[in-house]
Amino acid sequence: MQILKNVEELISYRRSLPSNSNVGLVPTMGALHKGHQSLIQQSVANNSHTILSIFVNPTQFGPTEDFDKYPRTLQKDCEIAKSCGVSAVFAPEVAEMYPNNDEITLHPPKNMGYIFEGFIRDGHFDGVLQIVLKLFHLTQPHFAYFGQKDAQQLLIIKRLVKDTFLPLKIIPCPTIRDVDGLALSSRNIYLSATQRQHALEIPQSLQYIKELINNGTEDAKTLIKSAKQILKNVTLDYLAITDYNLQEISAIQPNNSLVLIAAKVGNTRLIDNLWL
Ligand code: PAF
Repeated sequence: MQILKNVEELISYRRSLPSNSNVGLVPTMGALHKGHQSLIQQSVANNSHTILSIFVNPTQFGPTEDFDKYPRTLQKDCEIAKSCGVSAVFAPEVAEMYPNNDEITLHPPKNMGYIFEGFIRDGHFDGVLQIVLKLFHLTQPHFAYFGQKDAQQLLIIKRLVKDTFLPLKIIPCPTIRDVDGLALSSRNIYLSATQRQHALEIPQSLQYIKELINNGTEDAKTLIKSAKQILKNVTLDYLAITDYNLQEISAIQPNNSLVLIAAKVGNTRLIDNLWL
């Protein structure tokens, strides 16, 4: 496995790959957990070469967010990557990815990018699009793997590919959960034992919605009201039911519905969702 620290090394690595190779890209911010591992495993299973990027991207963090505090565990991440069969890790410094202060930026579609995460985290998706486009250009992947846990990010990146005619396919990968049901996230390490118990109300509320739907409830308001009863010890940012264009819907539409939730537990903000 190669460890590439700068853009030049990445470009020459990519050029060195045989023309008939299939390249999978797994973009991450490191602190790899089993959720990332499942993205990597899927890429390794389906491509001749997997490039894993590890970069805590400053432009997607707001001024009051946890950029400095975000866990950085490069050595351990590289060991995991190697054991999963990654071909190359790209782990650049910030100056390498952002050599200019005043850069061209991208914005998500207005009706997708400024609601939910985009409303609470001002400029977040601009930063995500900026770094993801750079990574796509540098690695020229055939496939890029993103977790369904970041549903809004996944849908907006799909639009980036569609709207700018990028020659690659986005592969959505299912959310991986701990045995207690909490969706894996690099931010879970911030939770105390009690906070973790409280955080479980998040997946429990989604599970409850699923059960209600299975028992025939389709009305979005009823589902949201019922699920809110479970959310006693977390501070809810939003709980919404939308279609796959992130537009709120009044009733569940099979194969085109998303339940999105974001809540704070102490100082830790967690998101989760249900794809229906
Ligand atoms: O999902 C993430 O970890 C990040 O938003 C991503 C896609 C790697 C861009 O920095």
